[in-house]
Amino acid sequence: MRLNEGITFKPNFKRALSYMRYTETYSATPLEIVNSGLGFTVMIKNESDRMGLGSFKALGGPYAVAQLIMHKWQIEKGEKLEPYRLHDSDVMAFNAEQTFITASAGNHGIGVAAGAQALSAKAVIILSKTVPKAFENRLTDFGATVLRAGDNYDDSVAAAIVEAESRDAILLSDGSWPGYTEPPKLVMEGYTVMAEELRTGFEASNQWPTHVFLQAGVGGLAAAISWMIRHNWSKQPEIIIVEPSSAACLRESHRAGNIVSVTGPISDMGRLDCKVASLVAWHVLEACDVTYMTITDRESIDAATALANFGFQTTSSGAASYAGLVKQIGRTSLDKTCRPLIFLTERK
Ligand SMILES: Cc1ncc(COP(=O)(O)O)c(C=O)c1O
Repeated sequence: MRLNEGITFKPNFKRALSYMRYTETYSATPLEIVNSGLGFTVMIKNESDRMGLGSFKALGGPYAVAQLIMHKWQIEKGEKLEPYRLHDSDVMAFNAEQTFITASAGNHGIGVAAGAQALSAKAVIILSKTVPKAFENRLTDFGATVLRAGDNYDDSVAAAIVEAESRDAILLSDGSWPGYTEPPKLVMEGYTVMAEELRTGFEASNQWPTHVFLQAGVGGLAAAISWMIRHNWSKQPEIIIVEPSSAACLRESHRAGNIVSVTGPISDMGRLDCKVASLVAWHVLEACDVTYMTITDRESIDAATALANFGFQTTSSGAASYAGLVKQIGRTSLDKTCRPLIFLTERK
């Protein structure tokens, strides 16, 4: 698939924010300002407590579950469903017949499972053998059925496609590919809420970031935030996409000019260890004037330790954008006057 081949992404970020405000668990996550010892302060968008689910993925799966239910209700019942109707008994009975299926490296599955449970729908989450047991336990706590398939994330995605077809269920992936783009766009639309929270704060303080570092797995997070920055922020930063060196699917697709799959050993950055980029996310990033870089497992582990020393408990996946920042010092315009923004994407 070549660039610009009919891929569009125009998120309805106002709809996403108003839906989140309607839910009981939503509140904006903090922007932490840290005296980093790097010669400048670092801004950290701290997603570790997002809606009690432990990562920014709480904005994507639950939002997409709700939107897909509202869409299906409208098609089958001819009524436009507003969010306040989602918990009415007739809608809940309808929801109970819906099954959502996805592969996950952990957090997206939690989002889908929590979103389905909140609306009385069912969730089936497919995990590869590399996903820690702790995620499986959290998923079953949310009432999901967990299946194990494949040696890596990309194998579990293939298994989820087959499983969704055989059960006649709704496939709700966070990645996208030719012919499957709309549900992942809803997931990304949910993530745009983070960028709006940030924009509101920066408008008020007038302390805009000069550089934004975003870690990427399939690229949904990075693309949603980059799109929002380029379309809605009044001061423009450099945007740097950070991937594990063993799973640089976005950078390699950028170099090739089309989506390519990469090979490499299993990364300690488990949630970023995706060997094939999301088609939609990659298209968006290519239009957002971003640069790509990679980090090693060692660099991400050191970054998680550094963040722990500042009082933030996260994993190497959660710390990857900080690792990217540290690695770039001396190589770019990161001097005393810069104000970098990084994303701490999950709690430990
Ligand atoms: C903690 C964490 N950080 C970053 C990412 C990367 O997000 P994406 O796959 O949308 O690029 C993920 C994805 O699962 C994640 O769980």
